[in-house]
Amino acid sequence: MTIAAVPNYLDEALPVADRIADLLGRMTVEEKVGQMMQLDARDDLDDHVLRKHVGSILHTSPERVLRARELTLQTRLQIPLLVGEDCIHGHSFWEGATIFPTQLGMAASWDADLIERAARATAVEVAATGIHWTFSPVLCIARDLRWGRVDETFGEDPFLIGELASAMVRGYQGGGLSDPTAILATAKHFAGYSETQGGRDASEADISQRKLRSWFLPPFERVAKEGCRTFMIGYQSTDGVPITVNDWLLNDVLRGEWGYTGTLITDWDNVGRMVWEQQVQPDYAHAAAAAVNAGNDMIMTTPGFFQGTLDALAQGLLTEAVLDRAVARILLLKFEFGLFADPRLPDETRIASEIATAEHRALNLDLARRSLVLLRNDGLLPLDGGYTADAEGRARQGSGGARRVAVIGPLADEAQTQLGDWAGGSGQAGWLDGQPRDMIATVLDGFRSVTPADWPITHARGADVLTLQEDPAGAFFPDGQPRPQIVVPSPPDEALIAEAVAAAQDADVAVVVVGDVIELVGEGRSTATLDLVGGQIALIDALAAAGTPFVVVLMASKPLVLPRSAQQAAAVIWAASPGMQGGRAIAELALGLIEPTGRLPISFARHVGQLPIFYNQIRGQHGNRYADLTQSPAWAFGEGLSYTTVEYDRLRVADTELGAGDTVRASVELRNTGERPAHEIVQLYVRDIITSVSWADKELKAYRHVDLQPGETATVELSLPVADCTIVDAAGRRIVEAGEFELLVGPSSRDEVLLSARFRVAAAAGVEAQAAVQGTLERR
Ligand code: NOJ
Repeated sequence: MTIAAVPNYLDEALPVADRIADLLGRMTVEEKVGQMMQLDARDDLDDHVLRKHVGSILHTSPERVLRARELTLQTRLQIPLLVGEDCIHGHSFWEGATIFPTQLGMAASWDADLIERAARATAVEVAATGIHWTFSPVLCIARDLRWGRVDETFGEDPFLIGELASAMVRGYQGGGLSDPTAILATAKHFAGYSETQGGRDASEADISQRKLRSWFLPPFERVAKEGCRTFMIGYQSTDGVPITVNDWLLNDVLRGEWGYTGTLITDWDNVGRMVWEQQVQPDYAHAAAAAVNAGNDMIMTTPGFFQGTLDALAQGLLTEAVLDRAVARILLLKFEFGLFADPRLPDETRIASEIATAEHRALNLDLARRSLVLLRNDGLLPLDGGYTADAEGRARQGSGGARRVAVIGPLADEAQTQLGDWAGGSGQAGWLDGQPRDMIATVLDGFRSVTPADWPITHARGADVLTLQEDPAGAFFPDGQPRPQIVVPSPPDEALIAEAVAAAQDADVAVVVVGDVIELVGEGRSTATLDLVGGQIALIDALAAAGTPFVVVLMASKPLVLPRSAQQAAAVIWAASPGMQGGRAIAELALGLIEPTGRLPISFARHVGQLPIFYNQIRGQHGNRYADLTQSPAWAFGEGLSYTTVEYDRLRVADTELGAGDTVRASVELRNTGERPAHEIVQLYVRDIITSVSWADKELKAYRHVDLQPGETATVELSLPVADCTIVDAAGRRIVEAGEFELLVGPSSRDEVLLSARFRVAAAAGVEAQAAVQGTLERR
């Protein structure tokens, strides 16, 4: 009997580099090209695996994960597949998984630890189901609120994005790829995708290298250094060049300056779109060669990449050595995961015990609570000054007896809508049309379950939002992807309004839940307006006239503009798509069972015409208002009320003369002057008073969470390395410039509420002398 020798690539005793080299040596050119491809598992899986030799699949239903494995075992080398999915706020397309608030909702917590725990829980659930790779987090900076993907971001501030995204990456990747609960994180969409034209998705991003370096790249650099294993290359072009082939960004910056060694994946059909949509490549051979030569490793959903690359090789547009470099990076992930020994298939035992555990549910409720932002309150909330909870978490009856609450609005009881985009019912996965209803607590459910049992809770829908009709341009895009249907706003419905008004008038308080629905959210679903759609404005108008005190719950994926009548609301709460536990969290907040702690990660406009409204604008315009409107936002970045008042006082900077290697040490006194506990997020901004080039008027540099009991005073110590007080100069260098700075500390980004103290940085090694920089500019 002869014993077949184990090929070197399967010999776990050998170094990974040797195993990769051995495997590469055995692969045909076709197998290498296929290894670089990730195709949609909803299509012809047999063709993908058996004939295109794909290295990866995405959008794979539970059944097709297993089928894909069967097919892999029929291949010559049986190279295991990497299975990818958009598990971006929970295991989005797994029935019964934990669906957390959207990324923007999570960001309102400003709590990196909590977000890391949510990502860890997601990874545990995802890894159990045979998926190895999530296309998350999104590091795009939300700037035009009309963009349909604002909900997927961590908001508008590069520093906050970097903090929260790093936490998410740590959570996903756990103890490293050998950890059976680790999944690959993806930093996306590299870089500048959100700098849309008019909010139009995937439009040309008009952005200079300096602007990229100033605000768009820092979060990516942060997660590159954090060890995020993959980066996704966005759809957009800049300066006429699709990012997919942007040599400066991919090679000089990412691979060069940052020393990034991870794997690059294109976004959906970036390679094909260079041919059929952007029309900057004559054919698939040229497009494939350009993408591979620029350093892309995995090509998402471009079936034509297979033949295109073979043609490119035949035409000498591409060498096999360049192909090998990309394939080696993909194989590295597979070896580090140990997929050759254990392909990490769905594990029934883990699925039964690790998905939607009580612990994950509790974490989800915690995150939903922390994602809520109280924007206005005339004192109506917490209801009756606040209730205490019994052992089941239900409010104990107060001395005032039962209260009647009318829970009104088209989103008050819309379970799937509450989950937002990239969730069971959002349409990206054909095998699922929603998450189990009984796992979701709507606002109506929340009030029913947390108010004392004898409170009458009534419900009226009050308005319809929209209907859909087919786009006259056709049901599909040229690449076969479905074209979103066109939104037709529903007219106000007098009968629904009358019913809602009657319910409100029969109640002590009305809670009206309005916002956006999935048809107004997501890729290809940017909006021209930020107004409430359909009958919602008429509903609020009618409730404002009805006389019953009312609370507006704005359950909106992104900041929307409320109608004038909403100014009569006693309170306004923003709940971004708040996930499965959102409705409960909202009811708890209204009853005062929890404190409001969320702070805006993004500014709210008063009118769509104020865009862009982000706080860290570059100074230097004439005046500070429009002729017909202020430029001040409705609610600014960092804002959010609590049920108490906190005073900030005595901001002190210890040393005001500092050098390059020093740290600014400051302290500020906080006092809870109200009667309820405060969870304050102390925000520290820096203003560089004179800069050699125009710069953001102020930038967030640090924040601290501080708990204060009623009456409590605390001295909060803050520190900020001088090295963080940078600008990007005219030459694109990130530098500290000597001179005077203002340290701004307070509860939000609004100048009116920030305390200020000055410090000076002296010119020395590591700090550019202000005069020298100005001199350089003068000579130009
Ligand atoms: C396109 C989206 O832009 C990207 O964010 C997502 O990860 C891929 N599709 C895969 O679904």
